[in-house]
Amino acid sequence: MKKILYVECSPRKERSHSIKIANEYLSKIAENDSNIEIKTIDLWSLDLPEFNGEMMNAKYSVIAGTEPTDNEKKEWSKVTKIFDEFADADHYLFSVPMWNFSIPYKLKHYIDIITQPGLSWSYSPDDGYKGLMGGRTATVIYSTGDGYGEGTGFESYDLQKPYVNLWLTFIGFDKIEKINIERTLFAPDEAEKSASDVALKLANIHSL
Ligand SMILES: Cc1cc2nc3c(=O)[nH]c(=O)nc-3n(C[C@H](O)[C@H](O)[C@H](O)COP(=O)(O)O)c2cc1C
Repeated sequence: MKKILYVECSPRKERSHSIKIANEYLSKIAENDSNIEIKTIDLWSLDLPEFNGEMMNAKYSVIAGTEPTDNEKKEWSKVTKIFDEFADADHYLFSVPMWNFSIPYKLKHYIDIITQPGLSWSYSPDDGYKGLMGGRTATVIYSTGDGYGEGTGFESYDLQKPYVNLWLTFIGFDKIEKINIERTLFAPDEAEKSASDVALKLANIHSL
């Protein structure tokens, strides 16, 4: 059975444009194939641990290959639990609003927890950095209040899409697709219509 993990990043729920499109995408997939398992992680109801000094010590023990202290082991187990839940899928859907030209802090916190040596990436002097999430694909829905596409003059303000794309590439995703919902503050109906068309097309491909 193919597993899909949906990571929901907007707190606006029924008023969120990205969640609306994500739900259309997932409903289409479920309608096409009942043999697909869909799980949702709502980042706004997840109790993410602080990435504090002790957790960093645990991370550096992993990098140095030294024996962690009992407390570091305890902290690291919080990371591995959240990572294991994240890693248990074949295809991923993210709904990502733009916040101050970048991503909501809850998503950044989640990324900081799961982007770990020995879990989602590795490094060796011979091979350099390697992503460990190979065999997985992602669809990312990006919502923005304004528009940042070619010709707007604001292309360089968009740190949302390049960052998420770089992160997924770094941890080894094989294929990353995007669905843009642009100008939700100015032309919400138009924005949703074109995003919805793309979402349904991609959902049909993923449920083949
Ligand atoms: C804290 C915050 C910061 C935002 N910053 C930006 C921004 O920098 N650029 C932009 O185009 N829209 C910005 N917006 C608008 C959102 O990107 C827009 O409302 C989008 O539709 C949010 O996605 P959602 O509807 O799925 O929640 C911001 C919204 C919030 C709440």
